Amino acid sequence: MNRTLAIIKPDAVAAGKAGKILAHLEDAGFTVRAARLTRLNRAQAEAFYAVHSERPFFESLVSFMTSGPVMPMALEADGAVPKLRKVIGATDPAEADEGTIRKLHAESKERNAIHASDSDENAAQEIAFFFSEAERLSL
Ligand code: CMP
Repeated sequence: MNRTLAIIKPDAVAAGKAGKILAHLEDAGFTVRAARLTRLNRAQAEAFYAVHSERPFFESLVSFMTSGPVMPMALEADGAVPKLRKVIGATDPAEADEGTIRKLHAESKERNAIHASDSDENAAQEIAFFFSEAERLSL
């Protein structure tokens, strides 16, 4: 079994889609091992997306990700990282496959409903970003 991090983003939480997206993830075969509703401050959003700090969309992305509550969760499945990326679809919902979470629920390339880790290494770092060592030990 492997783990990955998903974040249901402010657009989807505000639109009342968190429950639908969680059900979609469970129906796809993921087990939710940890989850919480929280709101990122600017420093937290900048740190989480530091890899994108030189990109032209960085300021807008940080504003969006701090605009309301998000739901980070640690998900478990065989091949969790590639499996989740397939289930959520392409970054831009216009390019996402039919039936993917972003095709069904995302508004735009930025307001795209859900984040997923892109490697096992980043998954471990991103789970550690949101969940304490004590919480991780009980996973
Ligand atoms: P995510 O998978 O969370 O990783 C980085 C985020 O930056 C991405 O989802 C989008 O929300 C956002 N993003 C990526 N590319 C663009 C873009 N070209 N314009 C605006 N936002 C983007």
